[in-house]
Parts: sequence; C-alpha cells; structure tokens
Amino acid sequence: MDDLRHKYLDLISNAADEGALEDLRVQAVGKKGEISLKMRELGKMTPEERQVMGPKLNALKDEINSALAAKKVALADAALDERLKGEWLDVTLAGRARRQGTIHPVSQVMEEVTAIFADLGFSVAEGPQIETDWYNFDALNIPGHHPARAEMDTFYTHRAEGDNRPPHVLRTHTSPVQIRSMEKQGAPIRIICPGRVYRADYDQTHTPMFHQVEGLALDKDISMANLKWVLEEFFSAFFGTHVETRFRASHFPFTEPSAEVDIQCEWVDGQVKVGEGNDWLEVLGSGMVHPKVLEAGGIDPNEWQGFAFGIGIDRLAMLKYGIPDLRAFFDSDLRWLRHYGFASLDQPTLHGGLSR
Ligand code: PHE
Repeated sequence: MDDLRHKYLDLISNAADEGALEDLRVQAVGKKGEISLKMRELGKMTPEERQVMGPKLNALKDEINSALAAKKVALADAALDERLKGEWLDVTLAGRARRQGTIHPVSQVMEEVTAIFADLGFSVAEGPQIETDWYNFDALNIPGHHPARAEMDTFYTHRAEGDNRPPHVLRTHTSPVQIRSMEKQGAPIRIICPGRVYRADYDQTHTPMFHQVEGLALDKDISMANLKWVLEEFFSAFFGTHVETRFRASHFPFTEPSAEVDIQCEWVDGQVKVGEGNDWLEVLGSGMVHPKVLEAGGIDPNEWQGFAFGIGIDRLAMLKYGIPDLRAFFDSDLRWLRHYGFASLDQPTLHGGLSR
C-alpha cells in the first residue's frame, strides 16, 4: 500500500500537463485502475482483514484523488502565469495620438464661394457628372457640328455596338446645370452650382478632372452691370481685399455678349499676389444668357434675361492659398494634404473673414 501511495504521489507531482494527469487518474483509480482492483480484492478477504484494509484503501483512494485535483489546479495556474507573461499589457501607458484628416483646399474654397454667394442671395444647385450630350451641348447652343464640341476634349461613354443614340459624356463644364435648374425652377432664379468637370487634358495647369462653380441669375431687368458688380463683390470678399477686374470681350455659344474676366495680380519671386500690381490672370467666363439657352430651359426670352458665369475653383484655390502645382491637388499625398489642408472647424463665414 505504501509503495502504491509513493508511486502515484510521485507520478502526479511530476505530471507535465492535464493529459498526463488524466492518464494517471485512469491508471490509479479508473475502473480498472491499480487501486480499484485492490478494492475488489476486499471481497475475498476475511472480515478481520477487510476491517483493516477497507479504510486504508479508501483513505489511499481519497488521497490520490485530492492529489490529482490539486495538481490540476497547479497546472492551470502555471498555464495562466505563462499566458500573462506573454500578454502583459501596461494599461498606464499614454495613448497613441491619431492624426485627423484635413479638409481639401478645393472643398474649403467651395465652402467659401458658397458662403459668399449665399450672402448675395444665391442658392446651391447640383446636376449629374455624367450628362446627356443634349444638356452638355445642344441645350447650350452648341450643335453637333459646332467647333466648341471638338475644342472641349470631351470624354464620351461607351455605347453597345448597333446602339446609335449619341453617347453620354462626362460633363465638360457646369453649364448644363443652368438648363436643369431652369427646367426645375423656372424664373426668376439665382443659383450657383459647384462641382466636378472633365476634359481630356493633362499638363502643369490642366488635369482631366477639375472643378468649376457656375452662376446663373435671371430676372426681368438683369444686365451686364449686375454681373460686374456681383463678380467684383465676390472677388473682394473671397480674397479679403479690393480686387480690380478686367472684362475682355470673348465668345461662348451660350452667352451673348460674352466676357472673360481677369483679376489684378502681381508676380513676386515666382509667387502671385492678387489685388496688387499690373498683371492679369484669367479666372472665369461669363456673359448674358443666350435667348436660345433660355428657350431650351423652358423660359421665355421675351420676358426674362440675365447673366451666367463659370469660375475655375482649383485656380482660385491656388491663387488664394499659394499652391504652385495643380496636379498635386489630386495626388492624395498625405504630406501635401496635411500641409495645405484645413481643420474641420475652419468653417468659412463672411463675418469670420472666410478663412485664415
Ligand atoms: N462653361 C464655360 C467654360 O467651361 C464658362 C462659362 C459659363 C462661360 C457661363 C459663360 C457663361 O469655359
């Protein structure tokens, strides 16, 4: 009995894991275990022998069972200690700072432009970037044979073979929103439409996607004088200083008369300063909405008239924030975005000076 006791207590205390421990349990106190077999022998003993051996065997079985249970707990504790060593975590360490994103200069400038024109009574209208050729061209008095179609470097969508309908286009300007807004609202109307436009062109000053903001004001007696005042008012608010403008006679199929507008600027060491000096930078096209365009929008040209303009937003952003290369606008380079981007709390307002 003593031999059995020593043997199993030794084996149990040296068991390497729970599996080995379970094997030992079966071997000692399982149905056919060594100690269980010994207990079966009690039946063949004399009552005197049984009276001595019975309690001894029971005590041995209990001792082995509690040694097994204790070892099981010890093994589990050791396993937990091991895990804690590997998964240890210092919860008192300072957190890692997460960088916040920034507002892209184009988005910022769109917000600024919207804030200024809202103050002048214009609301925001939008249209799709994939347009029918009717909205992008025909309705704007650019018929199929017109050279302006070719000049715009248009991206055309694909039509299935045998489908002879004219293909849709990626809008080449925001002017189709003029037509959509006239159809929807009628006259009088005062809207701006900021958005993306597309032309197949790529160099230092052109990217295949860029941004414009369209303006449209129709009423009974709106004239070029109103256009000039609105634009000068806009530029002075936008650049935060009085900006001279220069109107150059020009031609657009959808306006008559038409004018391209330059703003006053000066070049100092390769940097441009707006509102100073004797140089001029072209920033927009404009004019009085052509009667045919009003008709296409369902508006009677004998009753209503007004002006329209289209400003390049990216150009404005470069001028106001001194950003030299247009292509970097669309590279998604985080270093650039952190440098030129705006905090989300820089909400532009007129009384707040818009920005800075
Ligand atoms: N749509 C013209 C362009 O993209 C700009 C423009 C808009 C001109 C409205 C006149 C009136 O160049």
